[in-house]
Amino acid sequence: MRVKYQARNVEVREEGAGPAVVLVHGYPLDGDMWAEVSRRLAAKFRVLRPDLPSRRDTPHPSQPTMAEYAGWIAAVVDAAGGKAGVAGFSMGGYVLFELLRTRPETVAAAAFVDTQASADDGGARQNRNRAIFTAREMGPSAVSDGMIPKLLSTSGRGRPDLVSRVRAIVRRQNPNSIEHDLLAMRERADSLPSLGAIGVPTLVVVGSEDAITPPAKAEEIARGIAGAALVTIPGAGHLAPMENPDAVAAALSEFFARSLR
Ligand code: MLT
Repeated sequence: MRVKYQARNVEVREEGAGPAVVLVHGYPLDGDMWAEVSRRLAAKFRVLRPDLPSRRDTPHPSQPTMAEYAGWIAAVVDAAGGKAGVAGFSMGGYVLFELLRTRPETVAAAAFVDTQASADDGGARQNRNRAIFTAREMGPSAVSDGMIPKLLSTSGRGRPDLVSRVRAIVRRQNPNSIEHDLLAMRERADSLPSLGAIGVPTLVVVGSEDAITPPAKAEEIARGIAGAALVTIPGAGHLAPMENPDAVAAALSEFFARSLR
């Protein structure tokens, strides 16, 4: 599917048929992180997995903010019929919170995968600034390569095929996407106070070994949203959709089948 963004027609990966489901990726990644989950969901759904701004076909944002990223995802949903199930992984979850605040009518059901509702505290903001400085001085791989071990569980780090697939995605990210994501994440709003206003069916998914947004962060989201279900993926780290696509796809498939009828 092609969707207009910044006066350009952007190619958005699409597979399957049925109710629309949009998968939003995290940092420092792109839509390919969802490839295995998408293939499984495509048996029942029309799955769209766009790249966020500053990646491949998707142009730079006019401002590197979550509002801008959410505006792009809203454009994808609009092009897919105006309403969709949306799953956001980590930074993609921050985008989904913003979408629910600014264009709630576009989200029929929300799945938060290995993410958190809270904003960056002072220490986290300083880390973003340090990462921006390092990426500028030493190149983006000096920042993004350091992410790879944190993305996976101990057992995931012992799977060479998985590590090389993750590394291939991380390494192809360009300096702009790294910096824009860091700025957008640093300035994102605190979504904890608005959890109670989320009125769509909600699923929260987390890898039991997630070291970046641990299970306590997932529990916090699930507690704050009326009727939210929580699924824990045993043994998976932060990047659960790549470590255990069978389990993540099964949880999303059951949830979206129930909520997008
Ligand atoms: C992500 O996986 O998208 C990021 O690690 C999230 C973050 O750094 O806050």
